[in-house]
Amino acid sequence: MDLNKALKASIRDIPDYPKPGIMFRDITTLLGDAKAFRLAVDALVYPYVGTKMDQIAGIEARGFILGGAMAHQLSAGFIPIRKKGKLPYDKVQIAYSLEYGVDEMEMHRDAVKPGQKVILVDDLIATGGTAEAATKLLQQMGADVVAACFVIDLPDLGGRKKIEALGVPVRTLIEYE
Ligand code: PRP
Ligand code: ADE
Repeated sequence: MDLNKALKASIRDIPDYPKPGIMFRDITTLLGDAKAFRLAVDALVYPYVGTKMDQIAGIEARGFILGGAMAHQLSAGFIPIRKKGKLPYDKVQIAYSLEYGVDEMEMHRDAVKPGQKVILVDDLIATGGTAEAATKLLQQMGADVVAACFVIDLPDLGGRKKIEALGVPVRTLIEYE
C-alpha cells in the first residue's frame, strides 16, 4: 500500500462533528495504529533529516503529539502553541478564526530565540487560520519558520496560500476534497 492509501485507511471520518456540515477527520485512529503513526512521523520529518532544526512548534492539541515525535527524531526542542489561558509564564498571544469558530492562541515569550530554525506542525490545515496565527506568533518572536507541516490538507478551504503568503513552505501528506 502506498503512503497516501495507508494513512487514509487509518483516519476515521465523523460526519457533522463538531457542527452540522463538518466532516471531521479523526486522527486518533492513526495515532493508535503503530505502523500508521510511524509512517506519518517518518514522512513529516523526511525532508529535514540530517539538517539542523532548533525547534518543532506544535499546535494544541494534535500538533503536540506529532510534534513531540518529530522533535525526538530530529533531535530538536519542542514549543507548545496553546489555546488561551493554559501556559504559566510570560506569553505572547494572537486571535484567529477557525472553520467552525473563533479562538486565541499563546506561546511563551521566551520559547524561541531570534534566528532559530523552527518547523510548525499540526494534524490538519483547513482554512489555515490556526496555522497562520501560529506562524505569525513565531515570526514576531524572530523565528525562522522553515516549513509548516500537516498530515491532512483540505485544499478547498485554501489554507496553504495563507501560510505561503508569510514566506513559509507548506508540506502536507494527504488531501480530502
Ligand atoms: C483543528 C486542527 C487544526 C485546526 C485547523 O483543531 O487540529 O488545529 O482545526 O483549522 P483551520 O486551518 O481552519 O484553522 P481544533 O480547532 O479542532 O482544536 P483541537 O486541536 O483543540 O481539537
Ligand atoms: N479542523 C478544521 N476542520 C477540520 C476537519 N474537517 N477535521 C478535523 N479537524 C478539523
